[in-house]
Amino acid sequence: MIPSSLIPAIHNIAVAPIWLETFLIITFAIHLVLMNIAVGGTVIVAWHSFSGGSKVSRELSGKLPTILALVINAGVPPLLFVKAIYAQFNYTSSVLMAVYWLAAIVALLVGYYGLYWHYYRYESLKDVGRKGLILTVLCTLLYVGFMLSNNMTLMLRPDHWAEYFDNPHGFILNLNDAALLPRYLHFMVASLAVGGLFVAVLGKMKSDQDYIETGFKWFVRATVLNTAVGLAFMMSLPRDLMLMFMGKDMLATSLFGVGIVGAAALIYAGMKRKVVTASIITVVMVYVMVIMRHMLRQAYLEPYFKPEDLIVTNQYSSLYLFLISLVIGIIAITYMLKLMCKSGRS
Ligand code: HEM
Repeated sequence: MIPSSLIPAIHNIAVAPIWLETFLIITFAIHLVLMNIAVGGTVIVAWHSFSGGSKVSRELSGKLPTILALVINAGVPPLLFVKAIYAQFNYTSSVLMAVYWLAAIVALLVGYYGLYWHYYRYESLKDVGRKGLILTVLCTLLYVGFMLSNNMTLMLRPDHWAEYFDNPHGFILNLNDAALLPRYLHFMVASLAVGGLFVAVLGKMKSDQDYIETGFKWFVRATVLNTAVGLAFMMSLPRDLMLMFMGKDMLATSLFGVGIVGAAALIYAGMKRKVVTASIITVVMVYVMVIMRHMLRQAYLEPYFKPEDLIVTNQYSSLYLFLISLVIGIIAITYMLKLMCKSGRS
């Protein structure tokens, strides 16, 4: 079967795709940093819980429900932009894996509720209950992340969609894609690093050296590991796409070079316990990686589709409305976070 015959017809969009791609990159990076803190923070809490508990674990667990709420909210804009640009690919992959995909909503609810429960019942829960609960939360978050990786890679592989004819009930995952696991691990190991950095940032704000030490231990070890995982991810890509980062495309190759230098800078800043420097480089690196990931998606889809092929109807009012809501949303969230910090409940 010719894979392109399975792709639904192209649709119209309201504004030039470059706008949607730009906002996709900006908002996805925000989602990613928050997701990293939520997943990494949960691993750190679980780790400390299993090794006897600590003040880091107790206090960090109080921040996680709010962070997860922000992860979910920050996930909505990129979801809408992905659907707007890549509708015929992303809706199809979501339908092919529908059962696992919908189960992610249930997992998210369990994880979210579990985080609240873990924090507010911390004292009254027995040790075994506390450990069981935080492990359950961790599994739900890992599940959601894995489903996102599956969906975001299955949408790029129309050549895998024909499996539908043998398995039409929404139980398809992209497991026979060699890049899936290293890609997923790259995100999850990054979470350990960013979660650790978040602990170090808290330490800096509270002038608590214990926090800074603990946070940077996670940060440095995870970054070293993730440099290897990132390289393994690159090697797992189809040869043509891998070569894009090795000289075939100048921008992709330069970004890859920045990524390598950035990783070394992160490890150095982490070893020197430089909270501000490490935080700034991390944000830059997240954007570099997100742009590389976007270029990779375009390269995967190039045989079938380019965003420039979309028919633009030039109805910019919806984009203006989005921008106005975005500004109001950011102001409202900042205000609420400020109130929360003032009340001492964060
Ligand atoms: C605990 C919750 C979550 C975790 C652990 C998580 C994790 C991830 C990961 C690992 C990816 C990258 C997948 C890949 O490219 O291989 C991702 C992408 C994405 N996530 Fe989340 N996510 C969570 C919640 C959400 C929610 C609730 C939404 C939507 C409301 C969302 C929206 C997205 C979107 C749209 C992308 C892809 C963006 C793009 O392809 O440019 N996420 N997420």
